[in-house]
Amino acid sequence: MIPLIAANWKMNLLKADALSFCSKLSARVAQRKNRNCDIVICPPFSLLSVVRGALNEEISVGAQTCDHRSFGPHTGDINCLMLKDLDCNRVIVGHSERRTEYYESDKLVQLKAESAIAADMSAIICVGESAEERAAGKTLETVYRQVRDSMPGNGTFENVAIAYEPLWAIGTGLTPSLDQIAEVHEGIRDLVSRLLHDGEKIRILYGGSVNPSNAEEILSLPAVNGGLVGGASLNLDDFWSICCAASDTL
Ligand code: PGA
Repeated sequence: MIPLIAANWKMNLLKADALSFCSKLSARVAQRKNRNCDIVICPPFSLLSVVRGALNEEISVGAQTCDHRSFGPHTGDINCLMLKDLDCNRVIVGHSERRTEYYESDKLVQLKAESAIAADMSAIICVGESAEERAAGKTLETVYRQVRDSMPGNGTFENVAIAYEPLWAIGTGLTPSLDQIAEVHEGIRDLVSRLLHDGEKIRILYGGSVNPSNAEEILSLPAVNGGLVGGASLNLDDFWSICCAASDTL
């Protein structure tokens, strides 16, 4: 399975920095001999066009969230047809920052994923337990509920990826042990294989403090098919070294 490395820029960067990052990244990708890692850059909405214009065709562009509805009176919202119109291929849905700051429920995440797929894009569905849930031994229960209840009705192993991101690992420098990551990823794969036809072929990404020093060991786990990278995706050298670590694990 070709790994996917997704950059989640969150609410960061202005035009000039985004342009410089994307043109340098494109040059590095163009020099690469074999294409063996898929890359998607997910900038804020404001930079989607700029980023698409500056990246070569091999690199895709994604959004960090979407509205699940069609056109209408929804001030400030952006739907999936609008994202597709800007040549987005993927949408991150259910990131823990959205679930926490905007009270997004599993049901809403499911609707967003369905609308992304209906607009001919793929959904990256984020799931993950809080520190309290892990301490209470509820990691798998929490993650399974999120996967089951967020799974789009029109989902397939090709248009959905799951990103396992423990909340306590996001932006903290902490990561689960390799055994803990493998346990959750294997559990998710097992569950998805029962939910979707050929579900065992789904990509399951790990996210939460991925950086150049831990990328290789995490991405080498057989159950891990890529990474969702926040902080380290803002620095070109760090992000590139994570992409290379993913390519080396094939
Ligand atoms: P981080 O963020 O890499 O900065 O921990 C990951 C994410 O929130 O997707």
